[in-house]
Amino acid sequence: MDKLVIEGGNPLRGEVTISGAKNAALPIMAASLLTDERCVLHNVPSLTDVDTMIKILRALETGVARKKGSIAISGSFKKTRAPYNLVSTMRASVCVLGPMLARAKYAEVSFPGGCVIGPRPIDLHLKGLEKLGAKIEIKSGYIVAKAKKLRGAKIYLGGHFGSSVLATANTMTAATLAEGVTVIENAACEPEVVDLANFLIAMGAKITGHSTPTIKIEGVKKLCGVNYSVVPDRIEAGTYMLAAAITGGEVLVKGANPAHLLAVIDKLRECGINVAERADGIIVSRPTMRKIRPTALATLPYPGFPTDMQAQMMSVLCLARGISVITEKIYPERFIHVSELSRMGSRILLEGPNAIIRGVKTLSGADVMASDLRASAALVLAGLVAKGKTNIHRIYHLDRGYENIDKKLSLLGAKVWREKED
Ligand code: EPZ
Repeated sequence: MDKLVIEGGNPLRGEVTISGAKNAALPIMAASLLTDERCVLHNVPSLTDVDTMIKILRALETGVARKKGSIAISGSFKKTRAPYNLVSTMRASVCVLGPMLARAKYAEVSFPGGCVIGPRPIDLHLKGLEKLGAKIEIKSGYIVAKAKKLRGAKIYLGGHFGSSVLATANTMTAATLAEGVTVIENAACEPEVVDLANFLIAMGAKITGHSTPTIKIEGVKKLCGVNYSVVPDRIEAGTYMLAAAITGGEVLVKGANPAHLLAVIDKLRECGINVAERADGIIVSRPTMRKIRPTALATLPYPGFPTDMQAQMMSVLCLARGISVITEKIYPERFIHVSELSRMGSRILLEGPNAIIRGVKTLSGADVMASDLRASAALVLAGLVAKGKTNIHRIYHLDRGYENIDKKLSLLGAKVWREKED
């Protein structure tokens, strides 16, 4: 297993190009099962989560060929069982449920379960598919879904914590081939859902209202193969924006779409960070002498502040001049990074879903453990600015979601490298 070593203290400067969005690529790859024709996807990031989705598609006996950032999928799947050993490693595996059910009228997908960021139920996924006419049972740890026919329906898809990204994805994909019209109310508006809808529309689906909480899908008989390029990753972009801010540098984040990062840009400006929006990306800068201002924020469904940026923002606020408050409203237990940041000298008090962060002058390098993807990114940001050396152990989490992070950071002037460890 690798560890990441960072020698902190270098302001990042230069340009970084953002890769395709993991959370758009994964459901789009799964949605390729909706046609027998070949789909060629471009701008697919090279990540271990993408490798896992390829393994799942191959376990369904679908043809998958990969060349650099492109993946060709021929959707004539022969198997309908997504096995435990793959699904249990990645939540997004559950995205094959809707497409398989729509095509084969039968699907068996291992129950994805909870994970380190807290409980992650799937009731909304099941509700959406049941409303379309599926009969669903949980048998030996598998979701077994069957239907004689899927029929369009009016579906309210809101849960205790609001809309659900992947439940919207599963329901929307299944509805593309259902008979009649489906209306999803309280649908997720995240740019990754919009990208999936655009992919489905390119395949011939009739979808309107994506990017709003009411998505309308008119079922069609058949979808066709397409060439499609995945949208840039707003969370990767946001992470590099914060890397520029925390180190007191200046970085052009190329390919970042300001419209996808409204809440992050707003909070950065509130904290005294310069953000300039350009046609080719976003420039973020902070003069080293300018102190970071504290703030209060709550994570919310899009267009609110993304939960996937909460940990990274916490690292920045650890160095603000004063007290900040972060309230996690999507995953109230998503705070594993707090104990690791404390090892580096941060002062954070957890009170239920609230983190109260008292800014300190400096962080110091330490041995820390990566626990999940975004928590790992938070430790990287802290390491970039900490005094001395930070060893981030178990960095396989980072490779699930950040393409070539060590190379990209090195090109911006960071002292960062990988080392093997037992
Ligand atoms: C997606 O997960 C992302 N994953 C997550 O990114 C992201 O944190 C999350 O959306 C929220 O933005 C992918 O797109 C692959 P949800 P998803 O269903 O769809 C509750 C990352 O780091 N809920 O939108 O699984 C749920 O517990 C990852 O890249 C139900 O109650 O999240 C949460 O409180 C981690 N019932 C809220 O809804 C359900 O059936 C939102 O979760 C489903 C969800």
